[in-house]
Amino acid sequence: MTEAKKPAATVNAGAGIRPLVAGNWKMNGLQAALGEAIAVRDAILASPPKADVMLCPPATLTMVLAEIAKGGLLQLGGQDCHSNASGAHTGDVSAEMLRDAGATAVIVGHSERRTDHGECDRDIRAKASAAHRAGLVAIVCVGETAGERAAGLTLQVVARQLAGAVPDEATAASTVVAYEPVWAIGTGLTPTLADVAEVHGAIRKALAARFGGEGERMRILYGGSVKPQNARELMAVPNVDGALVGGASLKASDFLGIIAAYGG
Ligand code: 13P
Repeated sequence: MTEAKKPAATVNAGAGIRPLVAGNWKMNGLQAALGEAIAVRDAILASPPKADVMLCPPATLTMVLAEIAKGGLLQLGGQDCHSNASGAHTGDVSAEMLRDAGATAVIVGHSERRTDHGECDRDIRAKASAAHRAGLVAIVCVGETAGERAAGLTLQVVARQLAGAVPDEATAASTVVAYEPVWAIGTGLTPTLADVAEVHGAIRKALAARFGGEGERMRILYGGSVKPQNARELMAVPNVDGALVGGASLKASDFLGIIAAYGG
C-alpha cells in the first residue's frame, strides 16, 4: 500500500454515537464573517461528514445564520443562556430566544463564563435545564485550570463539575459534555493523548454510573487548541466524540480541516 493510500486514523463513531464538531466563535464575528459560515455550509452539503457540524456564533448573528443554514446540514447553537425564559435581565438572552432564532443547542458553563461572569456549577445546571426546557441541546463545559492539573486534581475537579452542572434530566439526546482544560484554551497547548483518554474515560464512567445507557451514549467533546493538524489524533482517542473548537472555527478552511477527521 502506498503512503498516499494509507487509510486515515480511525475516528470514534462507535457505540452508535454520532460525533459533533462545534465551532464556538466567542465574541468574534461581524456580518462580514458570514461568508465563512456559508463556505462551511456549502462544503458539508457537498461532502457530508460522518459527524454533526455546528456553529455557535455571537447572538447577534443567530437569526441571519439560521436563514443561511436553512435546509442544509449546518446546525446552530448559542454560547450561553439565562436560566429564565424571559424577564428583567438586561443584556441576557434566554434559551427560548435562541430556539426562536433558529438555534438547536447552547453552550453552558464555558470557562470564560465561569471566569468573566463568576458562574458556578449551580448556575450552569440551571442554564442546562433551561436549555432542555426550551428544547435545546445543552453543551455543558467542564475542565481544570493549570494549577489544578499541576496539583493532581484534574479528575476530582471534572467529577465535581459534572455532578454539579449536569442536570438530572439529562439524556444522550439532550446533553453533550465538553471537556476543555482551561490551560489548553487559546494557548496552542493540548494535553497528551493519554491524558485526554484518561479524562474522557473518567467522564464516561461518571456519566454511565449516573445515567446508565443514556450516559454511555452521551457525546463527550474535547476542546482546547483543536486545529486541523491535531484533530485526527485527538478525535481518535477513545470516548472523544467530537470537538468544541474556538479559534480554528473562525476560518472555514481551518474548521473544515478539523471536520475532515470525520471524512467531510
Ligand atoms: P480554542 O480552540 O481557541 O483553544 O478554544 C477552545 C474553546 O474554548 C471552545 O469553546
